Amino acid sequence: MRLIFHHKLNHTDNHMALLNILEFPDSRLRKVAKPITVFDAALKQLSEDMLETMYDAPGIGLAATQVNVHKRLIVIDISENKSEPLVFINPEITPLSDQQREWEEGCLSVPGYNEVVVRPRDIRINALDINGDAFEMEPDELLAVCIQHELDHLNGKLFVDYISSFKRQRIRKKLEKAHKQRA
Ligand code: NI
Repeated sequence: MRLIFHHKLNHTDNHMALLNILEFPDSRLRKVAKPITVFDAALKQLSEDMLETMYDAPGIGLAATQVNVHKRLIVIDISENKSEPLVFINPEITPLSDQQREWEEGCLSVPGYNEVVVRPRDIRINALDINGDAFEMEPDELLAVCIQHELDHLNGKLFVDYISSFKRQRIRKKLEKAHKQRA
């Protein structure tokens, strides 16, 4: 997920690598990610690379699907100084009420566009941490929105799926044009 206003930070850790972020309408963004069963050094490296890629973009959330790794892993950091990285593995969301909330969302895979999306307001998330240990949270506000946005990516879903097909097609055409110009 992308914030409308962001602060760019310089990270200089040589052990990390920036990953390529797939952009809408790339069909690989539609793949459903598989549960993670192995918690090893490679998984730690992937989560660190994803955080680095997210900070560099800059964004506040990134799903493995967006870097063409189809495993159920998301990273998030909504702190102002990028000091509170969160890693969720095999996340599952349970709505805790019927309340809905509107939020203007953006996405690193849909660069340059923000649209209002309606989602459940109150949720619980159950997930595993990088060591495979289970934890749960009851996030609110931006964190609750961001977790739902990122979990959608693992199911091949994008925030533009919630808006009108007219708007979605317009964004699709503009991004396809930009991709052609870049190529
Ligand atoms: Ni996104």
